[in-house]
Amino acid sequence: MKHVLSVASEAVPLVKTGGLADVVGALPAALAEQGWNMRVMIPAYRGILKKLKSPKKVWESANLYGGPARLMLGKAAGMEVLALVADHLFDRDGGPYSQDGKDYGDNAERFAALSFVAAEIAREGLGKWRPDLLHCHDWQTGLVPWYLRGSGIPTVITIHNIAFQGRFGRDKLAALGLQAWDFNRDGVEFWGDISTLKAGLVAANAITTVSPRYAEELMRGEFGLGLEGLLQMRAGDLHGILNGIDASVWNPEADPEITPFAANKMGGKSSNRKALEAEFDLDVPGPLAILISRLTSQKGIDLIAPALGPFLAAGGGLAVLGSGDGWAEHAMRELAAQNPGRVGVKIGYDEALSHRMFAGGDAVLVPSRFEPCGLTQLYGLRYGCLPVVAAVGGLADTVIGSSPATEAANASTGVVFHPVDDLALRQALMRLVTLYEDRKGWSAMQRRAMKTDWGWARSAERYAALYDQLCVQ
Ligand code: ADP
Ligand code: GLC
Repeated sequence: MKHVLSVASEAVPLVKTGGLADVVGALPAALAEQGWNMRVMIPAYRGILKKLKSPKKVWESANLYGGPARLMLGKAAGMEVLALVADHLFDRDGGPYSQDGKDYGDNAERFAALSFVAAEIAREGLGKWRPDLLHCHDWQTGLVPWYLRGSGIPTVITIHNIAFQGRFGRDKLAALGLQAWDFNRDGVEFWGDISTLKAGLVAANAITTVSPRYAEELMRGEFGLGLEGLLQMRAGDLHGILNGIDASVWNPEADPEITPFAANKMGGKSSNRKALEAEFDLDVPGPLAILISRLTSQKGIDLIAPALGPFLAAGGGLAVLGSGDGWAEHAMRELAAQNPGRVGVKIGYDEALSHRMFAGGDAVLVPSRFEPCGLTQLYGLRYGCLPVVAAVGGLADTVIGSSPATEAANASTGVVFHPVDDLALRQALMRLVTLYEDRKGWSAMQRRAMKTDWGWARSAERYAALYDQLCVQ
């Protein structure tokens, strides 16, 4: 068996702020099927250690960025976890990155510490366990490949979202263990700052991102956000590998949160819809759309209010679950206040409710301006809650939009719109109403969507093939 160390800032079931955690938490089991043993290293934020089964100390340091640190190896949901305990860095009142909407002032040091320890473990091993390869994720761990340059240990970095670049002032160079000569155009310098993501993209042996379409988009100015030139240069090492979903957690036939249903036995779906209407205090004659999202401009939240009028007038309704930027939470609350009985909004984060929403909803809206992969459209497909998505990134790669051609071929699984603006979203919602009115056509589309396989098997094979290739080089 070959070994890989995965390093990230979040992993289900221990800590999650977004899809990154789902993916990091799902990879170990998926890769075990491919002959790769994966351990996951994350920071021990407050409360994490208590969630680990039989933790034991496997490494320690008297001084890691100004305080003692140790690595605890334990298990969580079958996954082997290395939790980096360094209370001066990670034991905080707020979330993993910020408190009350304000990033911690020492984020550069916090995640450099994680990256530094990962690089040390890669070099030294942990007893008999020695990784053949290191896989890191996003800006938080971008320094890992940089620290491992010249070591001969292959590294892979996955871009989950290029909008977060790990930018810090040049004055942090020494604190991050970087030299003055690292700070140049071919190194960690990015528009006069340090970018830890760029460091990873320069130094890693291979770069992956979470859908083939996003891999192409990243090489263009509007999506690459300043890193497109570097990614064009590294095009030969850039791979788009779609995320999968955990088909045992997201299974409408055996989901403890809902009345179960199946593609060939849809009865339960209408009970779930009734329950959902009651939970959101709604009474909707037409299609009931849902939105489950971080409420930020990436997710196109500002497009919803201007697009919704005709859809509501035609009998549609909307249930929203999300949290995020103040302006977006306010916009959603306003929408509910103006449309009682038709629009319901819950501000917050609620995993169980999200299951009930996919089960009860007819359609899930994902009007993102960019979307590296996106998971909610995949959950929607699986639960016959048909996606209405912008034609970007992983959304475009996973939903077959209704059109005369795809209808004729019985291929459509949702509605795909472009460009990403309120007019196109308004038209997409009206298309949804028309599709929903054709009850037979709608059921057929639901069945198709539910039968598509979004499990991890195919993508895990691709990761394993990439790992194998890097290890023989
Ligand atoms: P991103 O990582 O950009 O936020 P993804 O679609 O990849 O987008 O992943 C988001 C994940 O977080 C999904 O699993 C989604 O169901 C979940 N999620 C987002 N907001 C909420 C919420 N308010 N309550 C419960 N789950 C949520
Ligand atoms: C990011 C992206 C999202 C992707 C997730 C997991 O948060 O915004 O599209 O699904 O990472 O890769």
